[in-house]
Amino acid sequence: MEFIDLKTQQNRIRDGLKTRFDRILDHGAYIMGPEIDELEEKLADYCGVKHAISCSSGTDALLIPLMAWGIGPGDAVFTTPFTYHATAEVISILGATPVLVDVYESTFNIDCEKLEIQIKRVIKDGKLNPKAIIPVDLFGVPARYRLIEDLAKKYDLKVIEDAAQSFGASIRNQKVGTFGDVAATSFYPAKPLGCYGDGGAIFTNNEEIAEKCKSIRFHGTTEKDRYHSEMIGLNGRLDSMQAAVLLEKFTIFDDELDLRQNISNQYRENINNCQYIPNDYVSSHALFSILLDSEEARNKKIEKLKENQIPTTIYYKYPIHLMAGFNYLEYKNGDFPISENLSKKILSLPMHPYLSQTEVELIIDNIK
Ligand SMILES: Cc1ncc(COP(=O)(O)O)c(C=O)c1O
Repeated sequence: MEFIDLKTQQNRIRDGLKTRFDRILDHGAYIMGPEIDELEEKLADYCGVKHAISCSSGTDALLIPLMAWGIGPGDAVFTTPFTYHATAEVISILGATPVLVDVYESTFNIDCEKLEIQIKRVIKDGKLNPKAIIPVDLFGVPARYRLIEDLAKKYDLKVIEDAAQSFGASIRNQKVGTFGDVAATSFYPAKPLGCYGDGGAIFTNNEEIAEKCKSIRFHGTTEKDRYHSEMIGLNGRLDSMQAAVLLEKFTIFDDELDLRQNISNQYRENINNCQYIPNDYVSSHALFSILLDSEEARNKKIEKLKENQIPTTIYYKYPIHLMAGFNYLEYKNGDFPISENLSKKILSLPMHPYLSQTEVELIIDNIK
């Protein structure tokens, strides 16, 4: 049994992939080839947003908009400690300060009441300028954007949706990619829509930010002159081969989301303590996570599942504030009790569109 099965998926699209790869070998535009425009148009249409800007990774999809806003030393950016560390890393890279806010025990996403408390604290302390919020749609479940956008308006903050894990998800039929000022997704191979290397995309309705992000991903240049830098940028482009993979995978993406949903429904009907999905929210089911009673119970369960050839993974074993790389923020154990507790009890079960009915039943029996 696979934790994530990319091979079966590849068999479905292999002929289409070969045709697309051949076309690239013929035209030879490996960087910014026609596949990039085609993909960006499809991504934007799919989400219902004006601009989709492909880029080199989900990390760069978060970094580039922060650069476009000029966020840097002295600025505070709010996010959660219970995420992949790239979310906080991009804030630190720019010399800004990640201000962490604990998550809800139910959805594992940023707690909006605690967010407002932290925003007020930073304003009162007067040491940092509050600039932006990066809510994370953990495991594919969107954060509470209605509340987050209200807070952003109230305190004049930008919002970047970290949709690395949630491309394809929605709230009340509004697709991920359209929340906040900007959204960022990842096309890492294991993501719901993944390429065969690193990749990502930025989504926005804001023309000015879109233009800046396009420029930053290409060393701060514009189409007018690629050898004249208008601003400090990066080599942050997606390549044509990866765009081709994504275009081919897009043809089966909605079908795969339905297959994931079906597995999630069966897990939910039979297993207690699954990640909570609020009414009217649709997850993209990048990962399927449950909570065990304790760290010991989790470790025992992992061993038992392993004996039955059921692979599992822990996302995330360490919250951001307890990782050595973030020691300089001077947080300590006990600062974010919910995230710390989750990191001890959480377990992710196999989740991909090609789990067979027998496999799903075996997993459920073993968890029960
Ligand atoms: C929540 C979150 N943010 C950001 C990233 C970074 O994406 P990438 O690996 O494409 O740089 C990831 C990737 O796993 C992620 O899960």
